[in-house]
Amino acid sequence: MGKQKSELSRRDFLSSSAKMAVAAASLPLLRTKPVLAKPASRKLKVALVGTGVRGSDTWGKTLIQRYSDVLEMVGLCDINPIRLEYAKGYMGANCPVYTDFDQMVNNSRPDTVIVTTTDCFHANYICRAMNLGCDVITEKPLATDEKMAQDILDTERKTGKKLVVTFNYRYSPEAEKIKEILMSREIGEITSVDFNYYLDVYHGASYFRRWHGLKQFSGSLFVHKATHHFDLMNWWLSAEPVEVYAYGELRKYGHNSSFRSTRCMNCPHKDTCEFFWDITADKHLMNLYVKAESADGYIRDSCVFRKKINIWDTMTAQVQYHNRVMMSYSLNAFMPYEGYYVGFNGTLGRLDVRVYHNQPWKVSSMADFRITHSFKESRTFSLTSGGGGHWGADQVMQDRILREPGSDPLGQAAGSRDGALSILIGIAARRSIEQERPFKIEELVKM
Ligand SMILES: NC(=O)c1ccc[n+]([C@@H]2O[C@H](COP(=O)([O-])OP(=O)(O)OC[C@H]3O[C@@H](n4cnc5c(N)ncnc54)[C@H](O)[C@@H]3O)[C@@H](O)[C@H]2O)c1
Repeated sequence: MGKQKSELSRRDFLSSSAKMAVAAASLPLLRTKPVLAKPASRKLKVALVGTGVRGSDTWGKTLIQRYSDVLEMVGLCDINPIRLEYAKGYMGANCPVYTDFDQMVNNSRPDTVIVTTTDCFHANYICRAMNLGCDVITEKPLATDEKMAQDILDTERKTGKKLVVTFNYRYSPEAEKIKEILMSREIGEITSVDFNYYLDVYHGASYFRRWHGLKQFSGSLFVHKATHHFDLMNWWLSAEPVEVYAYGELRKYGHNSSFRSTRCMNCPHKDTCEFFWDITADKHLMNLYVKAESADGYIRDSCVFRKKINIWDTMTAQVQYHNRVMMSYSLNAFMPYEGYYVGFNGTLGRLDVRVYHNQPWKVSSMADFRITHSFKESRTFSLTSGGGGHWGADQVMQDRILREPGSDPLGQAAGSRDGALSILIGIAARRSIEQERPFKIEELVKM
């Protein structure tokens, strides 16, 4: 990148950031949030598309077991009929199943459609469901490219339907505590943030075994995984991203090994490969995926060293926000432990948080906090995890969406704008790597 170009983009940025500063004054701390339309005299009718592990568990079995007093599952859809049948039994659902989405919606007339398919198909189903008159709950990421994001924003505007994006990480105990501390302004105005996320050699590797390893399905980990992190940051800061500059490399998985196979099951290297993973030990996963392979050819335990893997495992990004906050972010997917470190620099002090999700050593807490006031004392405290899916976050989020949408003191309910802004950082990062230049969010989508 030449000097002149860099100065120009900086000047451009300054002029647009001046405009953004004006906009900032009118950006409410907690924006109006999407609330699903609920029928007054009957249960909410819900249909689900994508009966994989997330769809059949969190949005299938759990929904039916915990929320049958307020909702009724009226249809299930997936392109894989074998997985669909198994998932229906696993969930304990007694509704019809469909391999055709329009047929499901037209026959079962749901109020709300839940989208839990492979990421790259979210946008198609979100838009179709809204056009057919339904509200939508979608899993993250909202979509995998900017055109899909634009289609969703336009369709929501046109149809007036509601879209909820399930950012469960916002409901984890440490994320809520960080939000409370920042809202209290105890460390003053935030000027910059250091955010480092670590995925380990187990969970991190799992992304390279599945469809996630191909950019065309997941948008890369900058979108699939980092959408959670960028959403947390946007929400923590009550700020909107303006510009992104990123780097990415594939250093461990994919082409980096001297040996490889097609899949772990039957692999000739299973005794020596550190990444060997035995899917046959898990009956549920065998039923959900291996027994359904004949329908779509999808292999759930693919080799992490497949040459066609085209996502990065080592990523950094610089993000500039509308309110002049600078964020330095990294995501590494083959670390010996898992969790994250985030440090907020404020005009009155600093907040350090270390979060432990999966460590090979024993940890007594889920997160350690340190708040240090400039020229004054430093205070530390720890949090322990809530039980249940994703540290208790899944259930708290589902309760809020399905039972008590009115109560939202921290502004955790997330809609299309939140979903879009979080993926747009990742998409801008992808474009920045591809084009070796800083990328503005406004180059991607008209909000
Ligand atoms: N918020 C979270 O913490 C969290 C956790 C896990 C997964 N997720 C999200 O849930 C979604 C599903 O993930 P998963 O782990 O269950 O994946 P999965 O591969 O187990 O399931 C995806 C399902 O979608 C189906 N599918 C694929 N293409 C389809 C199409 N065109 N039409 C209909 N169905 C189609 C597949 O057959 C499969 O059953 C992803 O978007 C993922 O990001 C979120």
